Amino acid sequence: MSTQPHIVIVGAGILGLSTALAVSEHLKIAHDITIIAEHGPHNQSMNANMTNFPQYTSPWAGAHFRPFPSKNPQEYAEMKLTRLTLKKFKQFAVEYPESSIKFVEGVEYLEAPDEHYKKVGEGYSDGMDNFSRIHDKPGYMGFKYDTWVVNSPLYLHFLYRKLISEYHVKFLNAKLTSLSQVNDYITGNPVIINCSGMGLRYNGGFDPNCFPIRGQTLLINPPKGCSYLNQTITYQHADGNWTFVIPRPSNGGIILGGTKQVGDSFTGIRQEDTDALLKRGEKYFPELMRTTRDNKKFFDILRVNVGLRPARQSGLNISIEHQEANVVINNYGAGGMGYELSYGSGLMVYEKLTEVLSRTFKL
Ligand SMILES: Cc1cc2nc3c(=O)[nH]c(=O)nc-3n(C[C@H](O)[C@H](O)[C@H](O)COP(=O)(O)OP(=O)(O)OC[C@H]3O[C@@H](n4cnc5c(N)ncnc54)[C@H](O)[C@@H]3O)c2cc1C
Ligand SMILES: *[C@@H]1O[C@H](CO)[C@@H](O)[C@H](O)[C@H]1NC(C)=O
Ligand SMILES: *[C@@H]1O[C@H](CO)[C@@H](O)[C@H](O)[C@H]1NC(C)=O
Ligand SMILES: *[C@@H]1O[C@H](CO)[C@@H](O)[C@H](O)[C@H]1NC(C)=O
Ligand SMILES: *[C@@H]1O[C@H](CO)[C@@H](O)[C@H](O)[C@H]1NC(C)=O
Ligand SMILES: *[C@@H]1O[C@H](CO)[C@@H](O)[C@H](O)[C@H]1NC(C)=O
Ligand SMILES: *[C@@H]1O[C@H](CO)[C@@H](O)[C@H](O)[C@H]1NC(C)=O
Ligand SMILES: *[C@@H]1O[C@H](CO)[C@@H](O)[C@H](O)[C@H]1NC(C)=O
Repeated sequence: MSTQPHIVIVGAGILGLSTALAVSEHLKIAHDITIIAEHGPHNQSMNANMTNFPQYTSPWAGAHFRPFPSKNPQEYAEMKLTRLTLKKFKQFAVEYPESSIKFVEGVEYLEAPDEHYKKVGEGYSDGMDNFSRIHDKPGYMGFKYDTWVVNSPLYLHFLYRKLISEYHVKFLNAKLTSLSQVNDYITGNPVIINCSGMGLRYNGGFDPNCFPIRGQTLLINPPKGCSYLNQTITYQHADGNWTFVIPRPSNGGIILGGTKQVGDSFTGIRQEDTDALLKRGEKYFPELMRTTRDNKKFFDILRVNVGLRPARQSGLNISIEHQEANVVINNYGAGGMGYELSYGSGLMVYEKLTEVLSRTFKL
């Protein structure tokens, strides 16, 4: 038996990288961590051209933190993870500006709020600084609070560099056909952490409870001094569509979104989605438009983003599974909340890991 544990994380998205960080920070005994992933910040060709790989979701996120009232115990448990992340991000924003995490004003307008929003139900305002009702949009119930925004690709790189330089985490670039294949790369029956997004199974294939929620957004080059550089605003319309702006810190532009197409796995750009986004953008966020020399308003589109949120019926799964040769800890199915949950879910995995390791090692 090996003298120190080897932990293999499959996946280098926001969940894989955050899990590696939480484990590295907290696990006190000597250990090795290897991340195996097909796509990620370790893959040089990816950095040159991420537009080829919409199935790697993390670079395509807005990303911001938008709390919401918990409707059931699963949502309440995930809410707790978002607040653990919030606490960490407050620290990161101060200590590591290069993380690109920035605290801004979060604003929400709801055209048809459900009872949970109306009564500011459990899980909504909990732990949110400067949370208050606002009344400036007729026909919409409004709230504001302090929240964070992040430039997703920059944050992924920040985590990657931190893991390599501070914690000596190793990265392997490979596409696996099943989690059991980890044993072809790493000997000694390592503990495997399943951060593969849609959930790659031990014996191949994907979790049938997982499904994509397609998101198309526009990355806009805003006019100078645009107020949305300091704010993230979300409209939840009565027809179920959402229109939002999310600034990407460090001159990353402003995301104008978005679509939430459940079960839709089309990774190409849809012109009709772009047109619908531009139309709603013109109505709700006219300040995002630039002006031509002959005084015409237009959106300066830097890029159209398409990503597939890895959702799972009944939410994120963090659980221990005993397979033939390995113990597997799951952390997949974050849907539209991967960044919000990221560090908190990493801490939960760390707790499960100590449970597993304490059977063999003196912690
Ligand atoms: C338009 C849009 C907006 C969003 N906005 C937000 C937001 O504002 N806030 C927020 O918190 N979230 C947001 N999200 C959601 C967020 O992007 C996801 O929840 C998150 O990226 C999921 O991360 P992940 O690490 O689970 O998966 P991924 O980023 O998809 O990573 C999966 C990893 O597993 C690897 N992998 C998978 N299968 C294999 C295999 N067979 N072999 C080897 N490696 C494999 C992949 O290569 C990759 O490294 C948004 C998503 C979209 C699309
Ligand atoms: C990354 O690595 C994989 C091999 O695992 C390769 O197929 C792919 O082209 C590389 N580039 C990107 C952008 O993922
Ligand atoms: C990125 O990939 C797209 C789609 O294949 C291609 O059109 C584009 O030229 C590539 N860009 C670079 C910089 O390689
Ligand atoms: C917002 O909340 C923080 C933390 O509670 C507090 O220090 C700050 O004064 C508040 N700001 C405003 C404008 O109320
Ligand atoms: C890993 O994720 C998948 C989702 O496909 C899940 O069904 C599976 O049980 C997890 N664990 C293993 C060992 O595959
Ligand atoms: C954003 O906030 C900063 C600091 O509070 C301020 O200096 C800047 O003028 C603001 N920018 C915009 C565009 O509102
Ligand atoms: C809402 O979104 C759907 C899907 O993108 C679109 O077909 C519909 O036109 C949208 N409604 C409005 C009012 O934009
Ligand atoms: C996670 O998945 C495992 C098996 O795949 C299942 O036993 C467990 O109930 C799931 N947990 C949650 C919280 O969904």
